[in-house]
Amino acid sequence: MKADPAPQPRIVILASGNGSNLQALISASQERDFPGKIVAVGCNRPQAFALERAAQANIETFVVDHTKYDTRDDFDRALMVEILRHNPDLIVLAGFMRILTTDFVRAFRGKLLNVHPSLLPKYTGLNTHQRALDAGDAIHGTSIHFVTEELDGGPVIAQAEVQIKPGDTAETLAERVQAKEHLLYPIVVRWLCEGRVQLGSDFVLFDGELLKTPSRLPDN
Ligand code: GRF
Repeated sequence: MKADPAPQPRIVILASGNGSNLQALISASQERDFPGKIVAVGCNRPQAFALERAAQANIETFVVDHTKYDTRDDFDRALMVEILRHNPDLIVLAGFMRILTTDFVRAFRGKLLNVHPSLLPKYTGLNTHQRALDAGDAIHGTSIHFVTEELDGGPVIAQAEVQIKPGDTAETLAERVQAKEHLLYPIVVRWLCEGRVQLGSDFVLFDGELLKTPSRLPDN
């Protein structure tokens, strides 16, 4: 008798807006050999285009509208309930624009990923593209990291570089950074689903070895 195939890791994706990273992940997950399954997409904004993208791909959606909750704790608890209903192995923040509470982050430790549009540890927080321009940086980029209690401070798994060109604006830069995110995020999610990447105390294990510096995709 043939053994049942191992169940695929279950992925829940959270987004707040356009969802272009979500789209890249949906497309990757539709490849025959993709080692995970996107079981639900959650949004904090009922009008987010990300919800339409998920519906188009026949993926279940849920909305936890942050404006309906008095406190961050209440919102996070409601969000956690929705997420747990899907019994996820991995929770992927893809342009999810809410700061999560310590309790939430702890509950999903090692299973929670985020994409941040800078070469961390540079430029945590907002307006990263303008800040890179103002600083006169030659290289900017994006980072995929584990989420921990420290905002945009969890161990970084991989980064993609973007060269800053003369005449770049925050908008032109954002466009090129996003194009890199669409390449990089599916690769990293694949690694997680394959069990190649794990979170240690404050470090990343890659194929069982300490990852001394994040994997870096150069711009070319
Ligand atoms: C991405 O650039 C990501 O780095 C940032 O928010 C943006 C989301 O874009 N956190 P989208 O919704 O995936 O199109």
